[in-house]
Amino acid sequence: MSDEHKIPDLRTASYEADPGQVHRVLLLYSGGLDTSVMLKWIQDSYGAEVVCLTVNLGQPGEDYGVIEGKALMLGALECHVVDAREEFAREYLTPAIRANAVYGDGYPLFTALGRPLIAKLAVEHARASGCDTIAHGCTGKGNDQVRIEATIATLAPELKVIAPVRSWQMGREEEIAYAREHGVPGKGGTEAAPYSIDDNLWGRSSEGKWIEDLAHAPDDDVFQLVTRPELAPDVPETVTLSFEAGVPVALNGTPMGLVELIEAAAEVAARHGVGIIDHIEDRIVGLKVRDIYEAPAAAIILPAHKELERLVCTIHQNQFKGDLDRQWGYLVYAGLWWEPLREDLDAYMERVNERVSGTIGLKLYKGHARVVTRSSPNAVYDAALASFSESGGLFSQTASPGFIELFSLQSRMAWRLHNEDPTGVE
Ligand code: ARG
Repeated sequence: MSDEHKIPDLRTASYEADPGQVHRVLLLYSGGLDTSVMLKWIQDSYGAEVVCLTVNLGQPGEDYGVIEGKALMLGALECHVVDAREEFAREYLTPAIRANAVYGDGYPLFTALGRPLIAKLAVEHARASGCDTIAHGCTGKGNDQVRIEATIATLAPELKVIAPVRSWQMGREEEIAYAREHGVPGKGGTEAAPYSIDDNLWGRSSEGKWIEDLAHAPDDDVFQLVTRPELAPDVPETVTLSFEAGVPVALNGTPMGLVELIEAAAEVAARHGVGIIDHIEDRIVGLKVRDIYEAPAAAIILPAHKELERLVCTIHQNQFKGDLDRQWGYLVYAGLWWEPLREDLDAYMERVNERVSGTIGLKLYKGHARVVTRSSPNAVYDAALASFSESGGLFSQTASPGFIELFSLQSRMAWRLHNEDPTGVE
């Protein structure tokens, strides 16, 4: 091992492992270059045993048998593959939908929602396999390290953490060289660095390459999930999403479990070019970055949910909830999933969503999804009252001028104070 790849001797947080404490490591293993090199590197540098954990959150096209085989080939004691899609949908995506969860006006938080679950599973498997330390492949510049380490430090103060990518100071070329030297299979290492991808059931992010050049419009090859709108069908398609208590339960009238429904929603939205987000983002660690997101399911489910919520809530509930939604999204983005305020907010979200049942129709066409129909037994809506024709009954138009006079009273008084000549002379 060359000197620059050594174990860090400077630790700044109490949960970071002292090399002497590292005997058996639970590695969050994706099968990619970083964590494959890491699997070897931990064994070599710490002389430690490694147990791998790979979590299936619905990332499309992943072959878990191959990942497991690779882990064992690289010397892992065991490789646990966990299908956590149901738990992800039920415990993480459900509250996210109820909270209309987006960060920075566009990011539906799929990575941020997945990390606390991945880290929670890492804690469970580390304990069950007698590990003293958890290792992950996050860099020191991202949000994911915050989400994972905050979770581990919260749930398992007895476990230590190592984040080799943050400390080993290998660039991509050196990693490829290390992989070659240590028999880590790769693609040969001559190809250009790929996009940095993270994905699950709820969306996919791409970072790196030209994405870092803000003046560079997206190259076509970045879109692997969503059809580019210019290639989408020339004929629009209308889909309906039905909700019960804020949770989507049917697509086009067919009842489905949430995982299946999200997959089906993603498929139809992606086909119509819906769900592309080119996003400038304020990371929690201070950096401002650009991400390209493809989130087709979120791009139809969230607007449909929000529309239904708006329909069944009063003006006051609607005014209020947006602020709470934003706070919920910020906490989750910032890695504070286990913060009690999130649960407090969830209690409110659940209560409001008791009435969010009904069906929303969206028309999908070349990159756009537009709400076109709404129905709910709980709509605070009366067509007769809203109509331009005379309604009588509950609503009296002759009462309106009196309302306007009182409703605008303070505003009118203040305007006069601020704008009239104080001498009173015109
Ligand atoms: N910017 C997004 C976030 O902070 C996506 C991060 C993707 N993570 C990754 N390791 N590629 O949640």
